Amino acid sequence: MTLNIKFAAKPTKDTDTVIIGVYADNNLSTASDALNVDTANLIESFLGKQESFKGKSGQIITAPVLDEGKTRILLVGLGDPDKIDGSAAETVGGKLYVALKSIGSKSAAFILGDDEEPENISTADMGAHIAMGVRQYKTLDAEDESPELGTFTIAGKDNKKSAKTYEPLGHVAAGMLWARDLVNEPPNMLYPESFAKMIKDELKPLGVEVEIFDEKKLEKLGFKAQLAVGMGSARTPRTVVMRWNGKAASKKKSQPLAFVGKGVTFDTGGINIKPSGGMEDMKLDMGGAAAVVGLMKSLALRNAKADVVGIVGLVENMPSDRAYRPSDVIGSYSGKTIEVLNTDAEGRLVLADCLTYVQRKYDPALVVDLATLTGAMMIALGHEYCGTFVNDNDLWENMESASKSTGEKLWRMPLDAAFKKEMVSSIADVKSLGNGRYAGACTAAGFLEHFIEDNRPWAHMDIAGTAWVKSDSAICPKPGTGFGVRVLDKMIADHYEGK
Ligand code: BES
Ligand code: ZN
Ligand code: ZN
Repeated sequence: MTLNIKFAAKPTKDTDTVIIGVYADNNLSTASDALNVDTANLIESFLGKQESFKGKSGQIITAPVLDEGKTRILLVGLGDPDKIDGSAAETVGGKLYVALKSIGSKSAAFILGDDEEPENISTADMGAHIAMGVRQYKTLDAEDESPELGTFTIAGKDNKKSAKTYEPLGHVAAGMLWARDLVNEPPNMLYPESFAKMIKDELKPLGVEVEIFDEKKLEKLGFKAQLAVGMGSARTPRTVVMRWNGKAASKKKSQPLAFVGKGVTFDTGGINIKPSGGMEDMKLDMGGAAAVVGLMKSLALRNAKADVVGIVGLVENMPSDRAYRPSDVIGSYSGKTIEVLNTDAEGRLVLADCLTYVQRKYDPALVVDLATLTGAMMIALGHEYCGTFVNDNDLWENMESASKSTGEKLWRMPLDAAFKKEMVSSIADVKSLGNGRYAGACTAAGFLEHFIEDNRPWAHMDIAGTAWVKSDSAICPKPGTGFGVRVLDKMIADHYEGK
């Protein structure tokens, strides 16, 4: 069932649950004015008697009264008005979704108060972000037949302002939710060929140009490194190139922005096979590709005024008699030769070809790649932060500000000549492993740096930890998170549109 987010002056007729905000220390929002006077007074005295409910952000309590017997009333904590911001409001929305689902609400309305505006966000924008939080929690799983929230309304006189803020958020949510669904899809359903088709079916109707390179075409083009990774699997590789040309035709065509995604649809490790415990997690190894295609969807939905090219290298990493081997020396699209030292370090090989192709073919103004690249990244930053390696300070600043406003957390990691040098091979141009097991995320970035040409502004986002979570959070059910869609969409919106 799809969830309808609505904006209206008053709760819609079918509303079964009215939600009223309560600021810290049980300061009831003036949203309660929308209730009849007796009900509002009862709630006021009820709040005065609460021991544990104190209006803390995300606290939820059911009011003990029915408003004229028709609707339930839910009180939700909004916390300190000095502290609430977009991310906090989304968390409140996510918690509300879970509460509404558990009480079986089908149509709920959050009432906008007329209170003094919180410090960092207007009440109308807070409403938009609460709606975004509700939407974020909603999975797109069509199979789920349990009764679900069908309508969530933001009601109040400022609803038009909320709707305006929500519009781009709704589009980015759609891209992110699709990315999550793709990550969650089992690998017998989602493999290079089927993934490529899903991308085309979804994006082409939105006006994105989609080109699929099959194995034959990849051979012709010379994607030797990506093909080497795919040798062990009967499911042959695909590379998908997507173009969104959102700049007005009148504007001089500029260099596009490029986004590259690792799309290993299942990573067994290959001949250097992974331990069996936990291997099932490796269906998420296409999280980078999911983020890139989710981003393209968001850009198309919101008609972004930017020229963007996305490329994803789709491949399954399997052991077999045809699989590539540790110690193989392989070619690459760039012409550089690569000494393969561990077949489980496959993501960097896929990225190498896609990075070179997109640079040579489209001469992009900047390149950002996303990849669930190293276990070392997870060891360093866990599921919380995405380690981001950037060779350009302006690009980093733009990413960092987008990160702060979307809540997708980035942490800058070092690109250092020493790591790049460590990846030089004695028998080929580069080797796929560093010298020891330390700084694994940094040496992987050092490897990729060998494939960045002309000092082009470039960022590598190692999303090994952030592409998935082990348990549900307030704004995301496990496991796929769709990480990367929001921060990159925001970066484009704030810094690269209309220029
Ligand atoms: N896909 C993995 C990295 C990964 C691990 C992502 C855990 C998400 C969660 C990647 O292909 C890999 O296996 N990397 C190796 C590299 C090593 C062989 C240099 C790793 O991190 O162990
Ligand atoms: Zn691997
Ligand atoms: Zn991998």
